[in-house]
Amino acid sequence: MCGKGLFSCEHAESRRRTLESEPGSDRQLLWLRSFIDAARSRDEVAFEAEINALAGNGLLIHTDDTAGRLFDMAGHFGSLGGDERVYMCGPKPMLKAGMDAARKLGWARDRLSFELFYSVAAAAPTPQPVSDGSFEVVLRSSGKSFRIPPEKSILDVLVAAGVDALFDCQRGECGVCQVGVVEGIPDHKDVILSARERAENKVMQICISRAKSPRLVLDL
Ligand code: FES
Repeated sequence: MCGKGLFSCEHAESRRRTLESEPGSDRQLLWLRSFIDAARSRDEVAFEAEINALAGNGLLIHTDDTAGRLFDMAGHFGSLGGDERVYMCGPKPMLKAGMDAARKLGWARDRLSFELFYSVAAAAPTPQPVSDGSFEVVLRSSGKSFRIPPEKSILDVLVAAGVDALFDCQRGECGVCQVGVVEGIPDHKDVILSARERAENKVMQICISRAKSPRLVLDL
């Protein structure tokens, strides 16, 4: 399992610049205050030596089997200072727990950055830019119809039209924008659906996926 390494860490970089500009500041200071490596069991903890070398005292290893419980995401988030950010990389249930905890704590959206782990063997093709033709989308609840042009996603068009659609990553990684497909054949470009879900075509991620058929009816 792996992520794609797309974290930009803007905050850490600006903090580094601030520290380096301060006379007498300790340039060895670890910009990431802590690194938490959570896994189901001890033998699933990857790159422990490498992470330990980078994070030192900031490394916390949690394994469900030795702790007898899942990592307390909400408790950890709640213990952080108001200007501390979290960068998460993991499987979908872990990311969802993190997003839920952040929402409950009322965090600003950009305080939590995340990236989905996925199996390299089973990974979907890398999402391509939106550029494969226009198609029609119809909302089941209202019957409203929208033309999706090549340069815009379904989500873009619906949000611009005032449709209250849920979304988060806008990269096909989190599943927050997933909707049911009532009619038509989606062109899946996300990285989270299983092979079976792709073949069934019952759901799609409207932030990135498109259509193989000229018309999609969505359960919205
Ligand atoms: S918003 Fe994350 S998959 Fe669409």
